[in-house]
Amino acid sequence: MTTTRRTALTIAAAGGTVALSACGGDEGGSGGSGAGGSASSGDGVSVAAADVPEGGGLVEGRVVVTQPSAGDFKSFDGTCPHQGCAVTRVTTEAIVCPCHGSEFDLTDGSVLKGPATEGLTTRTATVDGDQVTVS
Ligand code: FES
Repeated sequence: MTTTRRTALTIAAAGGTVALSACGGDEGGSGGSGAGGSASSGDGVSVAAADVPEGGGLVEGRVVVTQPSAGDFKSFDGTCPHQGCAVTRVTTEAIVCPCHGSEFDLTDGSVLKGPATEGLTTRTATVDGDQVTVS
């Protein structure tokens, strides 16, 4: 019975150093400048080739790795060029952005369905043994 709500409030009132302002606030925050940044996403990402389905792909953070045909790996920045959402899934037909439904080609990242008007930024996928490294 040492730390009650009253005790906590007393401590806050007396010390004035409790970080109550840390909660809530604006959700956007600062520091996430979105588009225009240098190529920070995707550098050094490596996935197991076996985890990338043939005729499909996967999303790893902000990187998309696809395998349109056996042994042919492609990679793209996972930031949707429409309004900057992260694409979240890859089907057998498209890379899909959940925010407004844009879809992109598995092979070259081009737009299959808007509202995006530009394709995904291409990255380099290098196969090294059983790993696919994105740069
Ligand atoms: S941000 Fe991707 S469709 Fe709008």
